[in-house]
Amino acid sequence: MDELLARYDRPGPRYTSYPTAVEFHDGVNDEVYAESLARANTATGAPLSVYVHLPFCEERCAYCGCNVVITKHRDVAAHYLDYLDREIDMLAAHLPNRRRISQLHWGGGTPTYYTAAQLGRVFAGLSRHFTFTPDAEIGVEIDPRVTSPEQLSTLRQHGFNRLSMGVQDFAPEVQQAVNRIQSYEQTKALVDHARALGFRSINIDLIYGLPYQTIDGFSRTLDQVLTLRPERVAVYSFAFVPWMKAHMKHLPEDSLPGPDLKIALLALAQRAFIGAGYRQIGMDHFALPEDELGQAVEAGTLHRNFMGYTVQSARDMVSLGVSAIGDVQGTFVQNTKKLNEYYAALDEGRFPIERGYELDEDDHIRRHVITELMCNGHLDVHDTELRFSIPFDEYFAAELAELTGPDSPAADGLVHVDDVAITVTPQGRMFVRNICMIFDRYLRARTAGAKPVFSRTV
Ligand SMILES: C[S@@+](CC[C@H](N)C(=O)[O-])C[C@H]1O[C@@H](n2cnc3c(N)ncnc32)[C@H](O)[C@@H]1O
Ligand code: SF4
Repeated sequence: MDELLARYDRPGPRYTSYPTAVEFHDGVNDEVYAESLARANTATGAPLSVYVHLPFCEERCAYCGCNVVITKHRDVAAHYLDYLDREIDMLAAHLPNRRRISQLHWGGGTPTYYTAAQLGRVFAGLSRHFTFTPDAEIGVEIDPRVTSPEQLSTLRQHGFNRLSMGVQDFAPEVQQAVNRIQSYEQTKALVDHARALGFRSINIDLIYGLPYQTIDGFSRTLDQVLTLRPERVAVYSFAFVPWMKAHMKHLPEDSLPGPDLKIALLALAQRAFIGAGYRQIGMDHFALPEDELGQAVEAGTLHRNFMGYTVQSARDMVSLGVSAIGDVQGTFVQNTKKLNEYYAALDEGRFPIERGYELDEDDHIRRHVITELMCNGHLDVHDTELRFSIPFDEYFAAELAELTGPDSPAADGLVHVDDVAITVTPQGRMFVRNICMIFDRYLRARTAGAKPVFSRTV
């Protein structure tokens, strides 16, 4: 394992998209977005996936890599909702024929920073224009430290059926170091309440690689999480990116686990969840077999978008709020991350798009390859040839050589390659990002530069 770590633990993307967000550029603006929406609107009646970013938190967790706005000023967050309403109205005006939602996710920040009444207002803004398919996934990220039973009841009344909550680690010394004190009891009370209300799927986020994490401490956390029996668990590798998130510079760097401990922590989580009957998804997600995600793993029909792994395959994903990323008709668009710019654009009647990316044919092919490997650990070669009318062996001759040559992932037992399929082995799951990196056309140019861009793959 040490040798594999030495070879494969290097900076690399997490592939929530391909091409990754570092390729986005400002040539994609509100006008390009309006054209994409016009194309999307011609698919009359097709359901949409919608993401809403609610960026506020009262205090910052020291490890946080999300796009957040830290403030205790409630009026600042209330003002944001006026503009969010305007953005929803503007979006709806561009999509008169696309008013059904099959997947809605509210992320953050902490959506439950808002009061129950304010959450109801955001929902009303959407339901003024949109309806939901009968089996719609309606989910929200909550922070158990700030979420009240009343907020949960309101969300449930509006039809929310999924919750995702941050835990990271219950060990007191870790919580102290990352400025996030959250007890097991507090978390359990909220999980119990959510179940009583009828939320059908609860996800818990954990992170490995945080300061002062140990095998013993994380093992206790895993035992505690298992008593809650969440339908889904995400076990994220800590993305330590102090060059992008300055507050991470204050973390005591010598207390961060090294690569072997990180791998041991992930392996511990894998053993714990698989041992308890969960199915593994990609390298770091787990789902109970009765959960839809667990069933999609069995069927090999999992999808991935900016919200993570999903069973929904709505082709167009529209996003609302600061920093939100959409994926409409082969074009990625990202809203500005700055509140003042977001407000200014909407005041001018423009979509607040800051940058994005229009995929070409090669991007679509590689995106398919990378998504299949990340989601299902398997790529059907013939299906890919038929889908894109390419001779796979010729198209990817260089990549296949890199994948299977001496000192390659195939030689190291991480992947199996033959004429009909590329299959990630159980050992290869931990390094699936490295396998995908071989198919990433943009990465070589990036890694040639001196400036770090991505967190490490392990
Ligand atoms: C928006 S937060 C979840 C909701 C809520 N704000 C909370 O913290 O409970 C999304 C998740 O991203 C993960 N996350 C945040 N920063 C991270 C980082 N630097 N590396 C890896 N995962 C991170 C955490 O697991 C966190 O629960
Ligand atoms: S509460 Fe969640 S979004 Fe807010 S700082 Fe902490 S991890 Fe980040």
